Amino acid sequence: MTEGRATFPIEPWSLTEVGLDHASLGVHESVFALTNGHIGMRGSFEEGEPVVVPGTYLNGFFEERPLPYAEAGYGFPEQGQTMVNVTDGKLIRLLVKDSPLDLEYGEIIDHTRTLDLRAGVLRRSTEWRSPGGRTVRVTSTRLVSLARRSIAAIEYKVELTDDLGDLYVALQSDLLANEDVPTEDDDPRAAAALAKPLRSELAVGRGRRAVLVHQTRRSRLRLAAGMDHLIEIPDSSTEDIEASADLARYTLAARIPQGGSLRLVKFLAYGWSSRRSSAALRDQVEAALATAKLAGWDRLAREQRDVLDQHWDEADVEIEGDDELQQAVRVGMFHVLQAGLRAERQPIPAKGLTGPGYDGHTFWDTETYVLPVLTYTAPHAVRDALRWRHSTLDLARERARELGRRGAAFPWRTIRGEETSGYWPAGTAAFHINADIADAVVRYHNATLDEDFDRDFGAELLIETARLWASLGHFDAEHGFRIDGVTGPDEYTAVVDNNVYTNLMAQRNLREAAEAVKRQPDVAGRLDVAPEEVDVWLRAASLMAVPYDTQRGVHMQSDAFTHHEEWDFAGTPKENYPLLLHYPYFEIYRKQVVKQADLVMALHLRGDAFTLEEKIANFAYYEARTTRDSSLSASQQAVVAAETGHLQLAYDYWAEAALTDLQNLHHNSGHGLHIASLAGGWTVAVAGFGGMRDHNGELTFGPRLPERITRMRFRVVYRGRKLTVTVTHENATYRLEDGEPLDIRHHGRQVTVDHRDLVLAIPPAPQPDPVRQPVGCEPRRRSRPGVRPERHASAEDSAVLR
Ligand code: BGC
Repeated sequence: MTEGRATFPIEPWSLTEVGLDHASLGVHESVFALTNGHIGMRGSFEEGEPVVVPGTYLNGFFEERPLPYAEAGYGFPEQGQTMVNVTDGKLIRLLVKDSPLDLEYGEIIDHTRTLDLRAGVLRRSTEWRSPGGRTVRVTSTRLVSLARRSIAAIEYKVELTDDLGDLYVALQSDLLANEDVPTEDDDPRAAAALAKPLRSELAVGRGRRAVLVHQTRRSRLRLAAGMDHLIEIPDSSTEDIEASADLARYTLAARIPQGGSLRLVKFLAYGWSSRRSSAALRDQVEAALATAKLAGWDRLAREQRDVLDQHWDEADVEIEGDDELQQAVRVGMFHVLQAGLRAERQPIPAKGLTGPGYDGHTFWDTETYVLPVLTYTAPHAVRDALRWRHSTLDLARERARELGRRGAAFPWRTIRGEETSGYWPAGTAAFHINADIADAVVRYHNATLDEDFDRDFGAELLIETARLWASLGHFDAEHGFRIDGVTGPDEYTAVVDNNVYTNLMAQRNLREAAEAVKRQPDVAGRLDVAPEEVDVWLRAASLMAVPYDTQRGVHMQSDAFTHHEEWDFAGTPKENYPLLLHYPYFEIYRKQVVKQADLVMALHLRGDAFTLEEKIANFAYYEARTTRDSSLSASQQAVVAAETGHLQLAYDYWAEAALTDLQNLHHNSGHGLHIASLAGGWTVAVAGFGGMRDHNGELTFGPRLPERITRMRFRVVYRGRKLTVTVTHENATYRLEDGEPLDIRHHGRQVTVDHRDLVLAIPPAPQPDPVRQPVGCEPRRRSRPGVRPERHASAEDSAVLR
């Protein structure tokens, strides 16, 4: 699925495909995916072909499959979980006289598709001449409702545009289960489990409505998909409905008079459950269909716009001086919102619901990349996401026990909550995910002061993760509290001692758990937290080992990292990236080579633990050793580059993060979008060039723009208020749109913001020595828009999606 570059005209509020480009088909299916976090539909055509991955997903709906090992080991997960391509309701096939509409046959007179970021719909317009010489224009508008979680709809119109007289057309509107999809898994057992994962339980069709109910064979999850239709036809027509095991079809045959048109609205409803019966699920989708049909297309479209109007009003980032980045940042924010808004009690996968990549799994990407954006733009979605984590707490407790630890050990990758990573060093050993979850809890609580959440979910998450750290590390007379044998964010340095990122995040986790015990004595009582236990947490936090190399004047990413042999970058040809596919782990793990921001990530998220001088020195050191073999790296490097005065470099990385999918920089956007990287578009704007930090319950800013950007404005929601920050090269203006005055810091100075403009000068940036990247890993300088950020292949380029 390695594909060419996708290109889109630059527009502020939309993304348009002009003409049909076969090489970019899969990428466009991903970037035109519509989802609300519950239902996901890739942007494949209504007529079903040409297609790369058709893709319809329901969050949390997966099939189990065996996880193969050449050699088994204690605690290795035995079952994998793979998101299933569910019943496809996007299909509307059109027969023009006797030729099916197919963009590969006949003649495309013109074709565009537009993702409208304010209306939240995908519009398509295709004028097509059939091989038989008749010309029609097909327009469709598709939405996955952000207001009604179980509903999607398609408005489909056929217009006769030639003057050759009346035309007979037929429309077949389908629900299709067990579609053929390409599988990435070479293991025949896994492929077999996923080949036709759905077993039919019920198929009913009546009038213009049909429902199919299926169950997965192994995970025993049940799903219902339903469709109903409204039609407007100018002349005579016949209709038919049929429903069999894997296909339900509504057929409409009509005569369109010269100059006439036909309109069909297809309503879709989806539901799934691990417990409810077929009959109950059928009733559920039929009821949802009935209310959607009653509301009608216009109302659904209006509700969609209302949700987005409110979102952009509260969250928009305006960028002057780079229209391409403006577009990319908004597209990224749109997809982040789509991924999380209605996920409710389900996880947010690394690809959202935009493609099958990473098997549909959720990683730390959610808590560390996606939730910080949503905390300040759509906080209720964060509450839901963390409630989902909380709902998996018993599984995490069980996993901790299996590993001989206390508290909770959350999985590195999962759909339902069980660990499904089959590779220890870049899987369960990445224990930092537990502190990442705790960090997201702290951030959300601080930004919303949601006391109910704290009492019902947050405090327990903090306490159980703190218990894990206390039992994972140990006190050592010489080095304080050590956490040994873990993997930090950098998967090229695995199973190490005292990873600084992990230790500092654990330190925050331990301290915050102690605070939670004070705030929520009832929760602490229920969990049997004794005062001595809290003392241990606080002692561990204050004695936390943070290795430092005094000779080089930098922190060690983990113990002895700076003593390892240097990687021979000059002798590494470009085609040998990503390194993990070309060198044995033995070679990679014991050298100073970094896959993705790790110590640099600590400089951002635990910036309160470093001085500016330390940040400058550390950034330079790790910059020279980081390959950016993961799409999660660029945005974090950008944030720290901006803080340490490397503004042009931060700008270069901003483009790399934000354009990851629009320019298919990792050559695999066809598998689904890189949601964490897209979230990075916002993060670089707000945390990078806005310098926003939220350490220790304080909201602080340190805005500074790169040369090309003349003005930037962003909004954040914070403790029930809307704060707008406008930045130019000379000053920053802060204003509250509503609510009580708010104390913030601007470049270290404490100020109070209210509903009036508070204009503050921006001090000069630090002037550090230039930094360099490894030979061959330099970002392309962003001197003008339209220039593709160049990069070598990355870890994600291959099927080895680790
Ligand atoms: C990265 C991980 C990330 C995962 C999913 C890997 O390549 O190294 O940090 O969680 O991709 O995005």
